[in-house]
Amino acid sequence: MPLDDVRVPALDRGFLFGDALYEVLRVKNGRPIFWEEHHERLQSGLDAVQMRVDMPEIERQMQKLCAASVNKTGMIYLHITRGVGPRKHAFAIDATPNVLIFIQPLDAEDIRRKQQNGVSVILQPDLRWKRPDIKSSNLLPNCLAVNESVRAQASEAILVSERGQLTEGACSNLFLVIDEQIVTPPLEQRILGGVTRLKLIEMARRQGYDIIERTIDQMEIFTADEVFLTSTSIDVMPVVKIQEQLVNGGHPGKMTKTLAQAFARMMESVTGLSKAA
Ligand code: PDD
Repeated sequence: MPLDDVRVPALDRGFLFGDALYEVLRVKNGRPIFWEEHHERLQSGLDAVQMRVDMPEIERQMQKLCAASVNKTGMIYLHITRGVGPRKHAFAIDATPNVLIFIQPLDAEDIRRKQQNGVSVILQPDLRWKRPDIKSSNLLPNCLAVNESVRAQASEAILVSERGQLTEGACSNLFLVIDEQIVTPPLEQRILGGVTRLKLIEMARRQGYDIIERTIDQMEIFTADEVFLTSTSIDVMPVVKIQEQLVNGGHPGKMTKTLAQAFARMMESVTGLSKAA
């Protein structure tokens, strides 16, 4: 159905409480890609918040939508709320979830341009709850942080924990290149386990790169040789400016470019949904 015709019930708990989870997947040639990895993350989130869904049905609907959509390349947005219930904090364990799935086109040209030039970021305090590993639709702290970055004419906000350690971007994962080693905050650092992060780490390790998952002090970003971000919507994105400071003279770093190209080649070779095909 047309997205404009979708109606959200006033008592939907996703609407009232942010009692909802979501996933963003890439669609290629009319097929969702890396579904197994997205599914695994989604399922562990659903388990953590005690939400039950008919996953095979969601997979069927996703495929049906991909087949019907004019957007054969784009992004699937999958949103699962706990469903409708009286407006009280406690939820019914047997509530029927509401599921919204839509596809939006992807501006591949815009991504390519940004990848060529690199993007600017700012640092912001990480104001989120203590379970950012759950891909909850409660994104107000993320929205506030990104909005600050837009006000500063940057593209992303890098979040800094109360201990002064870098966690991730407000909607991406963070990587630094320091002395030819690729460094990224560990999953224990209260970050979202990004599917792109996972795929990039797997690919880079296969190619013999040194990837170290460790806590990163906020000051390290200012002396890193290269900085880049990963997410489903930007793949591998070079960072060329942090606040007022240029990274690598304001140009995407050599290692970042090589990794971004290798990742793009890998994406080219991915054919789509395997598990639910
Ligand atoms: N965001 N960290 C956060 C906080 C994110 O919101 C995202 C993705 C990522 C990267 O995850 P992945 O590689 O699986 O896309 C990391 C999506 C794209 C969004 O909210 O639109």
